[in-house]
Amino acid sequence: MAKELQTIDVLTSGGDAPGMNAAIRAVVRTAIARGLKVKGIRKGYMGLLNEEFIDMEVRSVSEIIQKGGTILGTARCNEFKTKEGQQKGAEICRNHGIDGIVVIGGDGSYRGAQALSRLGINTIGLPGTIDLDIACTDYTIGFDTAVNTAMQAIDKVKDTSSSHERCSIIEVMGRNAGYIALWCGVANGAEDILIPEKYDFNEQSIINNIIANRRRGKTHHIIINAEGIGHSTSMARRIEAATGIETRATILGHMQRGGNPTCKDRYYASIMGAYAVDILLKGKTNRVVGRQHGRFVDFDIEEALNMHKDINEYEWEVAHLL
Ligand code: ADP
Ligand code: F6P
Repeated sequence: MAKELQTIDVLTSGGDAPGMNAAIRAVVRTAIARGLKVKGIRKGYMGLLNEEFIDMEVRSVSEIIQKGGTILGTARCNEFKTKEGQQKGAEICRNHGIDGIVVIGGDGSYRGAQALSRLGINTIGLPGTIDLDIACTDYTIGFDTAVNTAMQAIDKVKDTSSSHERCSIIEVMGRNAGYIALWCGVANGAEDILIPEKYDFNEQSIINNIIANRRRGKTHHIIINAEGIGHSTSMARRIEAATGIETRATILGHMQRGGNPTCKDRYYASIMGAYAVDILLKGKTNRVVGRQHGRFVDFDIEEALNMHKDINEYEWEVAHLL
């Protein structure tokens, strides 16, 4: 029979995302309500290898639900990608009496969780990334806040761009995924949306579009460029040279990852945090939590990592139509 859970830990790994604190809070409070002891691990897998544990009480997570970032800190840890690092991590868990870990992060962090579960440590992953690039879920913790932050920033750039009758290329985050760019492209009424999943590197068609719009009397031309395409500054120089229209690049950068989480990020991250504890208590391990078709669900990590997600063709068509 599986060993009864007594102590679980929670860590955040990879890029931070607004809403991670809500998830940490929910893990801690649900675990305590269910009679478990709970610890936080500082700075992701690096903190695990350095044995940076903090005892967590109900009050340890007071006043954090509204805060951006992660109170536990996060890190990228190459040592944990090695067999030796993973074995050391599992050994540390055993020495500290850790029966389960909730890992909040993206695909990379899930691979670390999978390695730990293969070494006998119960693990559950929660989707924490602003990029929305986790295939098994329609929702990731932080995307809603990041996309709203980016949208508001783009509105501001658009004001000044229109006043000066400029063309603006605004670069948004997303690593290799174009979700932030697509959503902002629609929400900000951008003239062009460039995403890695669809971009054909045909700059001439963008140039033609800018010239045609200017002839029709448009005072601005907003291009949302995804980080996965990048090169916004050199693109701006080429577009200005080809069109004769003053063109500026704005790279929004890390401001998209910070700030107070939206209600949606606080709510979903809270439910997911509780869900992770409850499935650990049901004896599940090596699972990731997601949201699909309006429900919270969980998948085997291997299965989740093998899933593939694409930009929806209809949404992409509508983005152009508008
Ligand atoms: P994300 O979790 O947001 O995808 P990363 O890809 O940077 O971010 O991964 C976060 C951390 O997860 C890495 O720094 C590393 O510690 C761990 N990790 C990533 N890939 C693996 C892997 N293949 N095996 C074990 N751990 C991994
Ligand atoms: O995964 C979140 C993310 O913000 C990506 O959008 C971006 O590519 C990356 O992290 C940036 O990472 P760093 O903070 O290490 O520069």
